[in-house]
Amino acid sequence: MRYKPNNSISYRFLLKILPAFFLVSLIFLAALSYFELNKAKKAHNQLVQEKTDNLARLLTEPVWQLSTKLSSNILKATMDDSDITCIKLEQDSDITPLIIEGECEDLSSEEIINFTSPIIYLDLRNTSRHLGTVHLYSESTTQWSSITKQLKALAALSLTLFFTLIIITSAAFRSTIITPLSRVSESLKSYRQTGQRKPVNWDSTDELGQLINNYNRNLIEQTKTEAALKESHLKTENALLSLKEAQTNLIQSEKMASLGSLVAGIAHEINTPLGNSLTVATTVSDITRNISKDIESGTLTKSALNNFIESINEASTILERNLGTAATQIRNFKNVAVDQTSEKRRKFDVKQVIEEIIYTLNPQIKHTPFEVKVSVPPNISLDSYPGPLGQIITNCFNNTLLHGFEGKSSGLIRIKADLVNEKYLSLVISDNGNGMSPTECEKAFDPFFTTKLGCGGSGLGLNLVYNLTTTILGGTVEIKSTIDMGVTLNFKFPISAPSAQKTQGHI
Ligand SMILES: Nc1ncnc2c1ncn2[C@@H]1O[C@H](COP(=O)(O)OP(=O)(O)O)[C@@H](O)[C@H]1O
Ligand SMILES: [Mg+2]
Repeated sequence: MRYKPNNSISYRFLLKILPAFFLVSLIFLAALSYFELNKAKKAHNQLVQEKTDNLARLLTEPVWQLSTKLSSNILKATMDDSDITCIKLEQDSDITPLIIEGECEDLSSEEIINFTSPIIYLDLRNTSRHLGTVHLYSESTTQWSSITKQLKALAALSLTLFFTLIIITSAAFRSTIITPLSRVSESLKSYRQTGQRKPVNWDSTDELGQLINNYNRNLIEQTKTEAALKESHLKTENALLSLKEAQTNLIQSEKMASLGSLVAGIAHEINTPLGNSLTVATTVSDITRNISKDIESGTLTKSALNNFIESINEASTILERNLGTAATQIRNFKNVAVDQTSEKRRKFDVKQVIEEIIYTLNPQIKHTPFEVKVSVPPNISLDSYPGPLGQIITNCFNNTLLHGFEGKSSGLIRIKADLVNEKYLSLVISDNGNGMSPTECEKAFDPFFTTKLGCGGSGLGLNLVYNLTTTILGGTVEIKSTIDMGVTLNFKFPISAPSAQKTQGHI
């Protein structure tokens, strides 16, 4: 927000305080005028009354003497006073007329006040005799002029005070509030622009001084916190790096572990046909040695030769079958192992690859009450990565054995694949084992989530499944499970895997 002069605190403060001050001054001025005017009026009335009384006293003698001329002259002389508008002299005697001096035509105005004073004569016996009444009329408006000067001076004083107040208030505001505030604002601005925290220099113990003091203290604390934060951020970054490294290593070992179990299974499987072949080979060697002895000693009979040929035939059939089995197993193992270790993209038949994978996994359940059912239509070709696909199936298979069928006396793993449309393949791997709780289901793909910590679980199996599915294979995966109702993993893979390999997975 930009600073505008009429946004300033002093401006707004003055705008609030000055009208009030102006109004108070005005009321004060009006009240003062009213009182002054009243006072002036009172003084004026008193003065005019005194003048009337004096005039009555002065007129006593001429009125007693019935000297109209003298009375008239006295009235004329009195009229020199500018305060007096008109004088009327009423005499009790019938022979002396009413004497009027001044402008006595229109005396109805409210501004004209009538002052009266009786004319009393004290004779030699000290008896008072009423001779008449003096009426003196005076205009009260004249009092205004006497106080306007005073009021003007007062108004000028108020105005001067008003402007002085503006100047003093602005200056006081500037020095006590605006300056420290703008210093704080400058410090904040400098932090925003340069990132440097500059403390504010302000020596005062008032509220603002305390505020700035706290601000400065906060700056120091913030600088310290920032440094600590930077350090811990660096530490966290390093920790994250080593964690990622550890995760990569763990994933690698998880891959190797499944490969290891595969090797162990295969070794066990090959052991039987090879053992059979060895036994047959030993038997062949024995009967060959016996027949050689017969030939050397010349005791070879036709029936013995026939027996020998028959045995050799039988042995070669057994050898052929057993070595054939071993060769098939080795070929399958080689395909799967090469796929799993190389992550090579190629065009492959889904049914064939899945069956090869299951073939290599079969030894693990061969002598258990568990079963695998595969249902894949023939002739679905994928241009993708058979290794990661095998890794996914192997991990799900191992999970079912380790978690799903734990404590179970029977179990079925179903692997079903089919085309969704010409672009996508759906793969469903399900079991009817122990299942998972909703919370476990939610966390299943999280790295390091395992319910078998320290008992063969690393928590990376399903994470690897998720990452391989969504990155290298460009597909999606959903997990559904209910306790005791098994687990179902629904995959959807594109027929043609994405060309650019995404590297980010579910971390
Ligand atoms: N088929 C399954 N049946 C029951 N629970 C399963 C199944 N597959 C996975 N889980 C649960 O999901 C967790 C995570 O699996 P995974 O990531 O493979 O880690 P790990 O197998 O090392 O424990 C397992 O610990 C288990 O609790
Ligand atoms: Mg696992």
